[in-house]
Amino acid sequence: MSDRRDLWRSRYRSVESFPAPPGALLCNQDLLPTRGAALDLACGLGSGALWLADRGLDTWAWDWAEPAIATLTQRAAAQGLALRAEVRDLVAVPPEPGRFDLILISRFLHRALIPAIAAALRPGGWLLHQTFTATAPADRRPASPSHVLQPGELIELWVPPLEGVRHHEPTTVSKGHATESEAWLLAQRPEGTSTKSSD
Ligand SMILES: C[S@@+](CC[C@H](N)C(=O)[O-])C[C@H]1O[C@@H](n2cnc3c(N)ncnc32)[C@H](O)[C@@H]1O
Repeated sequence: MSDRRDLWRSRYRSVESFPAPPGALLCNQDLLPTRGAALDLACGLGSGALWLADRGLDTWAWDWAEPAIATLTQRAAAQGLALRAEVRDLVAVPPEPGRFDLILISRFLHRALIPAIAAALRPGGWLLHQTFTATAPADRRPASPSHVLQPGELIELWVPPLEGVRHHEPTTVSKGHATESEAWLLAQRPEGTSTKSSD
């Protein structure tokens, strides 16, 4: 059992408030699909998954922390939303190829998983990835460099195999720091192509 997984489990055992849906969802709602299969990957308490299910998407939500999935299941039931919240270690069991029309990743970065995630999109499917940047103030981002993006890195990670559609990078304001802590990328898997991964 990994220490990191236990850390996330214990964080989610005492939840006092729920985060708002990722801001990138609201910025891009004009382009995101309203039908099809969606995944909130590393969903945590699943505010993004609830937003996607409420929009009409057939929604899955995966995270390895059981208490987060239990809380999300209760929230979905209370709101009358039929999303499928499942415990899943994404490194041990990456998403299957060609399964989703939209994948949301919010505040999660595991670079080695990117080819499998891109391949999990159907042709024409959308990726929305929002996460922390190294330019954020130290108290508003993870300490480990492996969990934060370098400036411009989000596009380099996903394009290709995906096509970039919209991109937001925090503006650096002073001494290398930015006022916002997260960058986001909206990208699409080209129609009629296969990615380099296993599909
Ligand atoms: C910073 S939280 C973000 C949660 C949510 N997406 C949000 O934006 O509020 C990172 C999440 O990644 C999950 N996570 C980390 N490694 C994972 C893995 N290997 N498999 C599944 N979930 C993982 C953690 O349990 C945690 O819920």
